[in-house]
Amino acid sequence: MFDFKGKNVLVTGGSRGIGREICKQFAKYGAKVIVSSRKLEACEKVVEEIEREGGEAIAVAANMGKMDEVMNLANRSLEECGYIDVLVNNAATNPIFGPILNTEEKAWDKIMDVNLKGPFFLSLRIAQKMIEGKGGSIINIASTAGLRSWPGLGVYGISKGAIVQMTRQMAREWAGGNVRVNCVAPGLIDTDFSKVLIVNQALREEALKTVSMNRHGVVSEIAGLVLFLASDAASYITGQIIVADGGGMC
Ligand SMILES: NC(=O)c1ccc[n+]([C@@H]2O[C@H](COP(=O)([O-])OP(=O)(O)OC[C@H]3O[C@@H](n4cnc5c(N)ncnc54)[C@H](OP(=O)(O)O)[C@@H]3O)[C@@H](O)[C@H]2O)c1
Repeated sequence: MFDFKGKNVLVTGGSRGIGREICKQFAKYGAKVIVSSRKLEACEKVVEEIEREGGEAIAVAANMGKMDEVMNLANRSLEECGYIDVLVNNAATNPIFGPILNTEEKAWDKIMDVNLKGPFFLSLRIAQKMIEGKGGSIINIASTAGLRSWPGLGVYGISKGAIVQMTRQMAREWAGGNVRVNCVAPGLIDTDFSKVLIVNQALREEALKTVSMNRHGVVSEIAGLVLFLASDAASYITGQIIVADGGGMC
């Protein structure tokens, strides 16, 4: 059920953190992986790691906030692999922290472009081919910040809330084309993205206050869930938001 041999998997934000682990796990289970992020060199490093471990991968750079690069990513991936079986919309950004009253338009646009518009149009392009072909699976990485309010994470949370609804709408419209669309909403996971909340003791204690398991998560705990949702074991699951947050939302 967890065999991805012969499958092509595109992962955005694949150069670091959760995305890098998702790339490595898919490759370990037999998939050819397209590793994408803004920095080609960083993606190539992940490709090298995968190849050293006997897997297959290629690197394609794309800034998810730039539509021409998003379309180029879709086109290059389809040219290189012929077909995309699994798309993981993982790349995201959060350049601001603070009350929403202070939001500047430029920051709003950047967050919405990278976290929402890019993944939306990339999904459309890839899903079109899946629907015309043998179907596929799309997994969107949201956040518990898209399911509840968080002090300081307002605009980021709004973008992630939209990803949650995007998941449901795509699942509804594309189920007939044999495309499943699901969403993973992580809590606090140890990566560059969340470093400040983990290394600072006061912030860490505050963040873990409501987490039942009283610890942050690690990247493999998200990658495993993504592989499950993409696998045949999840063949009757679509339109779902799976929270992986150590029991913070329970
Ligand atoms: N870590 C957490 O606690 C946490 C919690 C909830 C949700 N999440 C979500 O999990 C996902 C992965 O986060 P992470 O913690 O693994 O972050 P991370 O370690 O900071 O990695 C982010 C990845 O996205 C890429 N990226 C950033 N901006 C991009 C852009 N404009 N276009 C294309 N790629 C871009 C980065 O590579 P380059 O710099 O090379 O572009 C990198 O590969 C995100 O969707 C995030 O919102 C994380």
